[in-house]
Amino acid sequence: MKALVTLGAVSALVAGSCAALNSTAGALLSSGNVDLGEYEVAYGKAKAFVAQLTNSQKVSIITGSSFNGTNTTWTALTNKDGFAGINNQYYVSGFTMGNALTQTWDRDHMYAIAKASGREFYLMGYNLVNGPVVGPLGRTPWGGRQPEAFSPDPYLSGITLARTVKGMNSAGIVTAGRHFLLNEQETNRTSPYSSNADDKTIHELYLWPFADGTRAGMGAVMCGMTQVNGTLSCESSDLISGLLKEELGFPGLVLPDVNGQTTSYQSANAGLDFGSSSYWTTAILEAGIANGTFTQARLDDMAVRNVIGYYFAGLDNGEQPSEADTTEYRSVRAGHAKLIRKVGADSLSLLKNNNTNGGGLPLNTPMVVSVFGAHAGPCLVGPNQAFTVEGSSGDIYQGHLASATGSGQLSFSYLATPFQALSLRAAADGTMFRWIMNDTYTSSSSSSMSGGGGGSMPSTSGNSTDSSGSSSGNSSSSMSTGGGGGGDALSNLGTGTSVTPSFAAYAEDSDVCLVFLNAFSGEGADRGELYNADQDTLVNTIADSCNNTVVVINTVGPRLVDQWIEHENVTALLYGGMLGQESGNAIVDVLYGDVNPSGKLINTIAKNETDYPVEICETAQCNFTEGVHIDYRYFDANNITVRYPFGHGLSYTTFEYGSVSASKSNGTALSSTYPTGKMTLGGYADLFDEVISVTLSVANSGAVAGTEVVQLYVAYPAAAQQPIRQLRGFEKIQLAVNASSTVDFSVRRRDISHWDVTAQQWAIASGTYTFSVGSSSRDLRGSATLVI
Ligand SMILES: *[C@@H]1O[C@H](CO)[C@@H](O)[C@H](O)[C@H]1NC(C)=O
Ligand SMILES: *[C@@H]1O[C@H](CO)[C@@H](O)[C@H](O)[C@H]1NC(C)=O
Ligand SMILES: *[C@@H]1O[C@H](CO)[C@@H](O)[C@H](O)[C@H]1NC(C)=O
Ligand SMILES: *[C@@H]1O[C@H](CO)[C@@H](O)[C@H](O)[C@H]1NC(C)=O
Ligand SMILES: *[C@@H]1O[C@H](CO)[C@@H](O)[C@H](O)[C@H]1NC(C)=O
Ligand SMILES: *[C@@H]1O[C@H](CO)[C@@H](O)[C@H](O)[C@H]1NC(C)=O
Ligand SMILES: *[C@@H]1O[C@H](CO)[C@@H](O)[C@H](O)[C@H]1NC(C)=O
Ligand SMILES: *[C@@H]1O[C@H](CO)[C@@H](O)[C@H](O)[C@H]1NC(C)=O
Ligand SMILES: *[C@@H]1O[C@H](CO)[C@@H](O)[C@H](O)[C@H]1NC(C)=O
Ligand SMILES: *[C@@H]1O[C@H](CO)[C@@H](O)[C@H](O)[C@H]1NC(C)=O
Ligand SMILES: *[C@@H]1O[C@H](CO)[C@@H](O)[C@H](O)[C@H]1NC(C)=O
Ligand SMILES: *[C@@H]1O[C@H](CO)[C@@H](O)[C@H](O)[C@H]1NC(C)=O
Repeated sequence: MKALVTLGAVSALVAGSCAALNSTAGALLSSGNVDLGEYEVAYGKAKAFVAQLTNSQKVSIITGSSFNGTNTTWTALTNKDGFAGINNQYYVSGFTMGNALTQTWDRDHMYAIAKASGREFYLMGYNLVNGPVVGPLGRTPWGGRQPEAFSPDPYLSGITLARTVKGMNSAGIVTAGRHFLLNEQETNRTSPYSSNADDKTIHELYLWPFADGTRAGMGAVMCGMTQVNGTLSCESSDLISGLLKEELGFPGLVLPDVNGQTTSYQSANAGLDFGSSSYWTTAILEAGIANGTFTQARLDDMAVRNVIGYYFAGLDNGEQPSEADTTEYRSVRAGHAKLIRKVGADSLSLLKNNNTNGGGLPLNTPMVVSVFGAHAGPCLVGPNQAFTVEGSSGDIYQGHLASATGSGQLSFSYLATPFQALSLRAAADGTMFRWIMNDTYTSSSSSSMSGGGGGSMPSTSGNSTDSSGSSSGNSSSSMSTGGGGGGDALSNLGTGTSVTPSFAAYAEDSDVCLVFLNAFSGEGADRGELYNADQDTLVNTIADSCNNTVVVINTVGPRLVDQWIEHENVTALLYGGMLGQESGNAIVDVLYGDVNPSGKLINTIAKNETDYPVEICETAQCNFTEGVHIDYRYFDANNITVRYPFGHGLSYTTFEYGSVSASKSNGTALSSTYPTGKMTLGGYADLFDEVISVTLSVANSGAVAGTEVVQLYVAYPAAAQQPIRQLRGFEKIQLAVNASSTVDFSVRRRDISHWDVTAQQWAIASGTYTFSVGSSSRDLRGSATLVI
């Protein structure tokens, strides 16, 4: 969003309609309905501060202005776009983006990246960050904003949100989790369309992560531009006061995305806490208070909610730096590059690996390496070319892609590409290294090739006495390959390495062919395709001539691979998201085995785009008729064969799973259908209590040290009306060769609850629950059952 700078410029004044003008009294912090837990101290300070203010000072706060009163001063929070780095700023880091960070399935990495990024925001003088993103959740694989977000699985998204909120909070940042709610696509977002979902779907899917974020101390939430059930998200009392503030006990401020606010009273009564100085003047709000259209209690609540995060993040210590100019140098990056490289490498998923005949990964000092595709090297202009999907640039980026576009776009001060990292590797290994960094290159040579496999004798058509002096490959010559060191040195004079540059010639003459592909998108437009014809032709062309073709993909969302994945010469596929500034180094660390891959898919790669249940909605009413059945929930329910399931990812070693046992940790708690605890941050407190524990042992049965993400999937009794299985736990464990470790999953009350629409409460169904543990959602190695 870029809303805050434009808020004051909105000129039209639209008074609230007469309907639903009541603020929901239960959503006021002063109602005492919510035990504020770790926000209690901040609330006390916020309330005391606001108590001294005039209404006009309160209006300044809620419209983003500063003031100097007689005894009180307030400096508006400095709001900034970004999450994985500061949008539009010099001398900052480009961190691992949301989709790649989630693909690590590593809670420590999630925290560390958010903390490091938050530290840079803080030092540059920003304290209210528009992120992290859990909406879109990932209803459709075409959704353009998926790279900023986490995963279509709400459990995984929720944990990622909680860890990143904690990381940013620890750096003194107020996080604005966005976009609330059902903001699943970019198409028509400004029209705006209406997302219509039923109560069960909202609770079990889209609202779920916001509960984790609230519990973790998220101080702000940004409501979306879109409508929900026909009402703008930012003006929907059901959404903001009902679900977010009353049901999740959210204590902070709700701020609008661009154009999210169109009214004075309806927005304020619905629960919007921060808004436009056109809609909210002292005169307007006091008139509303005078005739009962608005309340003083709500105005006070709005002011308190605007400052509570400031106190919670410790910003009242008077030490935070002033806001930097965009081009101002400040030393903020510390050792962040090293962290970005490590997290990037740990996020990559090895989806296929065939080591037959010495092929596949990891690479072991190959003699001849060729690299193909625009994604291998830098684009012609960079690193901060203002690229956008809102133009006509298509879904492919003509250079190495390590960031998405729009308000989440990273501000690279440099970008390490695979080409750069591979060149250094080749130099160290004594490798013959070639490249064609274009997806559709056609050689100007009309020569036919006679070489292959590394080292045939020079062809007799070569003119050994032609010494033009050129040291680069001459594409108009018809020299055969000299790769592998064969041949008479004199015969190659003037022909470089003798291989005519063409896809086939380079491929044929290589021990390994690395093909780099990307797919890009970002704020403002959705994806137009889930695969790309030029790139798929490129892979097939290379694989036809190279029996060890390794494909590397960096993508914003699911990228289909069925056009070539079964080609016998495609020996490996390494797959990841937007890795940030150290992208090339991270990829090459995994290719060469310095890092053993441990990333797991955060969504499903189908065989065909028609297999996915939800496309982009192009009508004014977007009905979420698929309910909770998105991504693997849908594929499982419909028994559809997929290419790679949610949670899949291989390692250079293998893991052996022991037998699974499950036991009740709290039988008393389980005897109650509904939660009985107090309402606190995130919902009823006991929803977060462990009720079941699941245990097994996992061993490294291969030849190298490795890291496995052990996943827990739960199947509910039929009465709960749930998907076939759902992720409800994951643990990432590092194991030396022959080592084994006990893995314990702590299953919380909410992890076995379903939303009871009649009772309007989370309920535990009676019956048999199955707890399956595996290496992916479709590679379950063992299970245990419990009757509850
Ligand atoms: C406000 O709420 C009260 C109590 O629930 C109700 O009686 C009243 O009609 C509501 N007013 C409006 C304008 O909705
Ligand atoms: C408040 O006073 C400080 C210190 O004199 C000054 O820097 C700041 O600009 C003032 N703010 C406003 C909104 O007048
Ligand atoms: C400012 O503080 C002084 C001293 O505590 C007090 O007498 C005065 O009433 C305060 N003024 C306002 C506007 O609150
Ligand atoms: C939207 O409408 C559906 C269907 O009437 C209802 O189940 C759901 O609770 C509504 N949600 C919101 C936030 O208004
Ligand atoms: C209250 O006053 C505001 C501002 O003049 C006006 O827009 C609104 O219609 C009034 N509402 C009622 C119920 O009188
Ligand atoms: C691995 O590659 C070999 C040689 O091309 C092939 O015969 C075999 O079928 C491949 N294995 C798998 C699992 O694809
Ligand atoms: C590729 O072909 C070469 C030459 O026939 C052979 O030595 C090598 O083992 C093959 N590699 C793979 C991975 O099949
Ligand atoms: C790739 O090569 C094609 C010709 O095959 C050319 O049209 C295109 O501009 C090249 N792209 C880049 C990024 O150089
Ligand atoms: C090789 O180059 C020499 C000198 O330019 C020329 O006389 C001769 O015809 C060439 N031979 C061939 C096979 O092209
Ligand atoms: C695999 O690569 C070899 C070259 O090493 C080639 O001869 C063969 O035709 C390729 N296989 C296919 C199916 O294209
Ligand atoms: C998907 O399936 C349709 C219908 O069978 C087919 O026409 C299309 O080529 C397939 N797409 C891909 C990417 O395989
Ligand atoms: C939504 O977008 C589509 C495609 O851009 C367009 O044809 C359609 O008119 C839009 N619908 C609305 C309600 O704006």
